[in-house]
Amino acid sequence: MEFPGSPPKRCAVLYGSGLFEEAAGFAVSLAAGAAVAVVSDETVAGFYAGRLLEALRARGLPAEPVVFTPGGEAGKNWETLGEVLLSLAKIGVGRDGLVIALGGGVPGDISGLAAALCCRGIAWIQMPTTTLAMADSALGGKTAVNSGGAKNLIGAFHQPSAVFADLDTLATLPTRHLRAGLAEVVKTALMLDGGLFELLESSPRDLLDHRGPRLRQALERCARLKAGIVARDEREAGERAVLNAGHTVGHALEAAAAPELLHGEAVALGLLLECRLAERLTGFPPEGTQRLRRLLNALGLPTAVPRSLDTSRLAELMSLDKKAKAGKLRFALPATVGNPFLRGGEWTSPVELDLVMDLLKD
Ligand SMILES: NC(=O)c1ccc[n+]([C@@H]2O[C@H](COP(=O)([O-])OP(=O)(O)OC[C@H]3O[C@@H](n4cnc5c(N)ncnc54)[C@H](O)[C@@H]3O)[C@@H](O)[C@H]2O)c1
Repeated sequence: MEFPGSPPKRCAVLYGSGLFEEAAGFAVSLAAGAAVAVVSDETVAGFYAGRLLEALRARGLPAEPVVFTPGGEAGKNWETLGEVLLSLAKIGVGRDGLVIALGGGVPGDISGLAAALCCRGIAWIQMPTTTLAMADSALGGKTAVNSGGAKNLIGAFHQPSAVFADLDTLATLPTRHLRAGLAEVVKTALMLDGGLFELLESSPRDLLDHRGPRLRQALERCARLKAGIVARDEREAGERAVLNAGHTVGHALEAAAAPELLHGEAVALGLLLECRLAERLTGFPPEGTQRLRRLLNALGLPTAVPRSLDTSRLAELMSLDKKAKAGKLRFALPATVGNPFLRGGEWTSPVELDLVMDLLKD
């Protein structure tokens, strides 16, 4: 895959099984003899850091673990980022050093930002271990931590040099997380690939089996679609916003309902609500919304917002998003299943907050 810049940045992307050795080999080609930090949360480190460190050290790389706690969204903040940066300095990771993010979207987002800040930007590799990270967050170079209750407020664009998605690691991923990550697959299909959406509908159960071919095929197809968009619009000047479908509502839901909803679960609910918005604003067919609801149900993803949801907090969080976009709440909406709505060169549509809140109360 190739991303813009001068010269354009290449990112090796591999999906498969038994990829730890390959990742270590690639690390040597990037940072022979330099300090390497393997960054993960406690859970992932417990399962997989030892194996990766061993493979790196066997190739002569002075690799050290950097383990942060708590894992999950609770640890995705400025404090953790500061601790990770301090650890990189202690290990002696310098300009020629390397960061390897081992874990889900949270270690990925934190490690990437740490790599962007360390010595004004050093090389990094992603080894995603969740379906969410394999389908979406490991690709595209968006890195961030949360701040002041708002998602991803502090961040940078910093492309990894490679992504090694070893599906064997999904064996230990709790089913709820495995399902949640599939919401990003559904998002990509809904917005960009009607054929993939049909494939998901045809055998949703197969996607829950990490050893079967269907999940890997779906993940690879998502990666190709995302890479195409990122290559055309890395900094989200336009088209890349399409990948935010489900996230404008989803991010606010995730924060307002925390810790009840996982990121992917909030995205699933966001997609459903945004399809209903699209019915009113883009002529999206109501059958499309029904298909989405059926698919989310089949994948064991939520289709109703939690009863305990604090709607005024949700409105507040959505307004925060609104401020961040020059006073207008804007949504990437589907036109049909598999195609985004595009009008006058704009990939997002303005939406009144009141309309969103009305649909949420329905
Ligand atoms: N950068 C991007 O483009 C982008 C895109 C989408 C989402 N995100 C971010 O990704 C985050 C969500 O990612 P996530 O769902 O992967 O969260 P996560 O990294 O917190 O992982 C979820 C949980 O699973 C555990 N875990 C991870 N891999 C495991 C494994 N193989 N076996 C056992 N346990 C494992 C983790 O310890 C954690 O408790 C959010 O913060 C979201 O904002 C970023």
